[in-house]
Order: sequence, then structure tokens, then C-alpha cells
Amino acid sequence: MLVLGIESSCDETGLALYRHQTSQETASAQQPSGLLAHALHSQIDMHREYGGVVPELASRDHIRRAIPLLETVLATAGVTTSDIDAVAYTAGPGLAGALLVGSSIANALAYAWRKPVIGIHHLEGHLLSPLLASNPPDFPFVALLVSGGHTQLMSVRGVGDYEILGETLDDAAGEAFDKTAKLLGLSYPGGPAVSALANEGHPGAITLPRPMLHSGDLDFSFSGLKTAVLTQVKRLSRLPESAAAQGAPASDTYRASESGSALAHQDKADIARAFVDAAVDVLVAKSLNALKRTGMKRLVVAGGVGANRQLREALNAAATRKRFSVFYPDLDLCTDNGAMIALAGALRMARWPEQARHDYRFTVSPRWELGQPQPA
Ligand code: KG4
Ligand code: ZN
Repeated sequence: MLVLGIESSCDETGLALYRHQTSQETASAQQPSGLLAHALHSQIDMHREYGGVVPELASRDHIRRAIPLLETVLATAGVTTSDIDAVAYTAGPGLAGALLVGSSIANALAYAWRKPVIGIHHLEGHLLSPLLASNPPDFPFVALLVSGGHTQLMSVRGVGDYEILGETLDDAAGEAFDKTAKLLGLSYPGGPAVSALANEGHPGAITLPRPMLHSGDLDFSFSGLKTAVLTQVKRLSRLPESAAAQGAPASDTYRASESGSALAHQDKADIARAFVDAAVDVLVAKSLNALKRTGMKRLVVAGGVGANRQLREALNAAATRKRFSVFYPDLDLCTDNGAMIALAGALRMARWPEQARHDYRFTVSPRWELGQPQPA
């Protein structure tokens, strides 16, 4: 079964073709299976000048990119539209307008091709994405989902069998990276920039709190960490004494310290280092607790922050020490992409074909908790 996947929940348009081989097909398998092609357009350059995602611009850009990306994946996979058996798309959570674009295109294509169509939860895509790697995990596993909008620990017993063990009470981990980047005057998206700057920082030069490290549960809180970063930025800001004397209004001086522009480079790097160390410590400690509680021996890390080098190094070291296995998606499939949606769609269609729709009525769910039915 060949599935077209369409992702458009935020600032990346991703399309992909995934072929799932059923046991009958395996016997006569002459066709390549697995991920045949994926193509992505990132809107980062467009949103950068605004310092974050502008939803209206995101929707308009998804419209422009989807069909050219479809042509790219068809050409790469060497298939035609008539080879496609089903269409999967991200139905939520995410930006309403952006989701509507992908959903409309998916349903329109499926209608034109008279093929079934299935709406997928974005986070299900992320947590299944390590199955596309060359060394995929077996079920069950604990999943640490760390994206721009979510931070959750889940127990994953199989496709569609998810239980939330803990989650953030306020900001997501990626959001904390992005806000820290802003405070340090780094450009959007902040995660990779903060991570790179942290490498130049001196470990221990600054210490930041580890929120909820000892809370005894598997929940997270990152907003206090962001406030602690702001306090350090203000403390270390080197604004010329003469700024006020030269007539700079106090509000400008305050703004300069809030955007990191008054910080020495090494101070910025030390703050970045302290932030990354604190965030990574909490993420690793809670993941270890989740493994202990569930008795599971496999940890899957997915979502944009899963691309973070410091987090991967710390988890790899913990895995060796505590004897568990840790799995990641390939780096290019950590952030949003169509491959994970095509995969999730194919696995669901193979198992529960009745979940696909043939009436092409659809709705999107900007807020949708994983494991719950899609809200109408
Ligand atoms: O999963 P994703 O692409 O989109 C959402 O579903 O939210 O995650 C995006 C988030 C952003 O907050 C971005 O700053 C963060 O992932 N991110 C990183 C890295 N790469 C992306 N955070 C830390 N280190 C990275 N290398
Ligand atoms: Zn995502």
C-alpha cells in the first residue's frame, strides 16, 4: 500500500511517499518498500524577520509549496499519482489555518483520485518517526516528545496505544529554547542557535535552576527557567554608564538588555550553556524516571529538540550507564516532515482500514490531545 503523507501544521510543508508491505505483498514483493521519497520546504527564512511564525503567512506559503513538493516526491519515487493507494494528512494539533491548507489539499487529491484519506495526529507522527531509522525500536517503549509546542513522556505499547505519563505544565522545551534565544538576541528558530552558542560557554560559570527535578512526578515546567535566563541577562548586561546620560530613554536601555544586545559574547555563551545544561538535566532525569516506573528498557526521543546534540550525548551516556537503549529519528526527520505522517497513515490504514474516510468530509483540530478521539 502506497501512502502519500502531507504535513502542514506549522512552518514546514512536508510531503512523502511511504510504501507499507502487507504480508501478502511480501510474498510477491518486487516493489521497493518503506520511505520512497520525502520533500520539505521550511518557512524559517520567511518568518525570521518577524522573530517567530506568522500564522497567516504560514498558511499562504503551504498553499504555494504543496503541489510542487508533490511533483518532487513522485519524480523521486518514480511513481505516478495512479500508484497512490491512500492519502494521510496532519489533522492537528497545530495552527488552524496551516492545518486547513494541508487537510484541504489532501482531501481534494484523494477525492480526485477516489482513494481513502486519513487524518493523523501530529505527535503520533513524531513518536513513530524512529521506526523509519535503520535501527528501529520494537514496542513497547517510553517516548520523550520534545517539540516547539509539546513536552511529554508517553508509554507507547503499539501503534495507537499511547498513555501520557507526564507533560509540561507551562512552556514546551522547544519554546524555552526559542525564548532563551530571543533573550540572547539570537535569531529564530532558537534551538540550534542556543545549542551552538552553548558549546562556547564555560560549564558551571552560571548555574540555573532545574525546575521540578525533584517533584516526584513526570511533569515538567520550563517557564521558570526562561525567567531565570532573563534575570541573568539583566544582571550581566553591559550597558554603557553613559547611555542614559547621552539621552537614551530608560525603556531603550531595558529593551537592549532584554534582547541580549548589551551582553558580552562570552556572557551570552555562558548563559546558553547554563540553560542547555539545566534543560538537558531535567529531560534526562525525567526520562530515566519514566523508564524506571514503567519497567521499560527502550527510550525513543522525537520532536525538534530531539535533534539537540547535548541532549543526545547526555541520553547516550545515561543509556550506557543504566543499560537501556535509546532511539532517535534520523536528524532530518526530527523536526516536522511528511515522512512521519505517511508512515503513521500507512500503519493505521493497514491495521484499521475503517479509520480512513471515503466521504471527504474533514475537520482540523488545532488542540487535540494524543490518545483522545479527534475533537469535532
Ligand atoms: O517538532 P518541531 O519541528 O515542531 C513542532 O512540532 O513544534 O520542533 C520545533 C522546535 C523549535 O522550538 C526549535 O527551536 C527546536 O524544535 N529545535 C531544537 C533544535 N532543533 C530544533 N532545539 C534544540 N536543539 C536543536 N538542535
Ligand atoms: Zn512537530
